[in-house]
Amino acid sequence: MQFKAMIISNHEVSPGYFRMRMSAPPELADARPGQFIMVRVRDAIDPLLRRPFGIFDVGTVASEFSGCGPQTYVEMLYKVVGKGTETLSTYHHGDHVDLLAPLGTGFDLGDPDEEKILVGGGIGIAPLYYLAKKLVERSRVRFFLGGRTRDDILCVTEFERLGVETYVATDDGTLGDRGFVTDVMERHIRGAAGKRTIYACGPMPMLQAVAGIAERTGVPCQVSLEAYMACGMGACLGCVVKGKEHSDESPDYRCVCKDGPVFAFDQLKWV
Ligand SMILES: Cc1cc2nc3c(=O)[nH]c(=O)nc-3n(C[C@H](O)[C@H](O)[C@H](O)COP(=O)(O)OP(=O)(O)OC[C@H]3O[C@@H](n4cnc5c(N)ncnc54)[C@H](O)[C@@H]3O)c2cc1C
Ligand code: FES
Repeated sequence: MQFKAMIISNHEVSPGYFRMRMSAPPELADARPGQFIMVRVRDAIDPLLRRPFGIFDVGTVASEFSGCGPQTYVEMLYKVVGKGTETLSTYHHGDHVDLLAPLGTGFDLGDPDEEKILVGGGIGIAPLYYLAKKLVERSRVRFFLGGRTRDDILCVTEFERLGVETYVATDDGTLGDRGFVTDVMERHIRGAAGKRTIYACGPMPMLQAVAGIAERTGVPCQVSLEAYMACGMGACLGCVVKGKEHSDESPDYRCVCKDGPVFAFDQLKWV
């Protein structure tokens, strides 16, 4: 779906990180956790390409205008890293952006009787909130959240309000445990019995560590990847990653935008 979205709110939740809520058509309320949106930041040549962002949340609320029906909204959580996100951070209530949504595959919610382990690094938590919202309706959910420093730890209260048990680790020890959140997660997995699935999103070194843990412990794992994207719909092949069968003789590439961004970790080649 392509549509013009009105910005409802856009505020800085931590230095350099923003949460933006936009109006959306009612059909978007059916988006699956893990799907993403492509945002045309401005009606101008620069930046030309749409920018991809995970769906942080979608929902429906009473309209702010009397006499109007319920209003569907979509939210994204983003980090200012360049021109596109810098421009987005200047927008206010009433401004508009052009969106393509929902795109890509989503997370598989799996067996409700097993424990769900969510692990996010920095802005990688963005698609995990909507996932947690869906999962807590049916399963026990634990969330392992890591970042370089305390300013990179976002939205802990929002996850806790859902009833999710949350564990925090920072590289410099300014919040939660000092060290990698993947180590905290592995200790939990090894210390408790029972069936579980891991859902992960974050920087590539973190995802590689998570894939290693999944491999060693035999716990199924889904990862949400980021890649440079131009079209977001499988046409330009700008976003490919290597699939598990890839070799020089027999290439096996997967489009992050169309085949992903969510993959079972064992569908991918990690080295
Ligand atoms: C499926 C998907 C979901 C995403 N979800 C989110 C999200 O929820 N929140 C969020 O803040 N960001 C998310 N990203 C990353 C986001 O798309 C980029 O940060 C954004 O496009 C940067 O645009 P820019 O114009 O500000 O920066 P640019 O000027 O384009 O680049 C600035 C810097 O960011 C790096 N960068 C740009 N695009 C990417 C990318 N796609 N992957 C990795 N590094 C990149 C560049 O190497 C450069 O160093 C997602 C990316 C994908 C593919
Ligand atoms: S972004 Fe064009 S194929 Fe994925």
